[in-house]
Amino acid sequence: MDVSISRPETTSPTPEDDVARRLLDSSAQLSYDPLTEVDWETPLDKDFHGASPEWSTLYGTAYWNELTDAQRKELTRQEAASVASTGIWFEMILQQMVLRDIYAKDPTADTFQWALTEIADECRHSIMFARGAKKLQAPAYRPHRIAVELGRFFKTVAFGEAAYAAILVAEEVLDVMQRDWMRDERVVPFVRTINNIHVVEESRHMKFARDETRKRLARAGRVRRHIHSVLIAVAAYVITTSMVNRKVYANAGLEEKRAVREAKANEHHKSMMRSSCSGLMEFLASVGLLTKPALIFYKRADLI
Ligand SMILES: [Fe+2]
Ligand SMILES: [Fe+2]
Repeated sequence: MDVSISRPETTSPTPEDDVARRLLDSSAQLSYDPLTEVDWETPLDKDFHGASPEWSTLYGTAYWNELTDAQRKELTRQEAASVASTGIWFEMILQQMVLRDIYAKDPTADTFQWALTEIADECRHSIMFARGAKKLQAPAYRPHRIAVELGRFFKTVAFGEAAYAAILVAEEVLDVMQRDWMRDERVVPFVRTINNIHVVEESRHMKFARDETRKRLARAGRVRRHIHSVLIAVAAYVITTSMVNRKVYANAGLEEKRAVREAKANEHHKSMMRSSCSGLMEFLASVGLLTKPALIFYKRADLI
């Protein structure tokens, strides 16, 4: 009796699959399990910052100069927890967008399998951020109600380059600050490990997001590109303005109104954001997504 099973017909790999194939190989070589890699046991040492102080929304303001060392450290710990919580919010949005994008597509394709790998990464990241924020002794920081509802809408309808470029924006904004924090000896060690894991795994996600954005734009007409360029810019505005929750100040023992006022006017922080986003802006310009109306939002968000 012939028991050989004929191989199912698979679609031959497309050049588009090249990037996904390489990402899958790279992921097989270097991925982390945060549950075992991060030191969750050692109690929080309050002698450390939660983030590089230069990244604090108050660094460089008059208020910052009045703070004691302990207050500054508490503030950056609350800020780091807020960024992690916003990260979870965004990772939930992007997991759903990627899942919707690959729905009922060819599961033998490398792009399909990479997309699932990315979703699995994000799922681990969100658990890692959740544990990290808890260990930093922070409450649940959720974005403003309006941002939550805009996110709900966006993750339900965004497609093609709008979805992938918005994913890229969130990943790029986080990337530069996390690279600083992971190398900074003033930052509490478990947060450095969290950031290291995130930076390594997100560099693959960013490659994929850039590649998908280019691919989808190649099929998009002028009108669609223009509409999406604004949508992406609005998403970027909502993401960056949701990064640090205003409640962090009161939770660090500061006067909320004054802190919010000085943070909003903080030129140092604005210039940190602008320089960290220069590569992203270059990319958006190169693919035609930095349209005039989009620029208005990037400028308002201090990304350019
Ligand atoms: Fe992530
Ligand atoms: Fe990601």
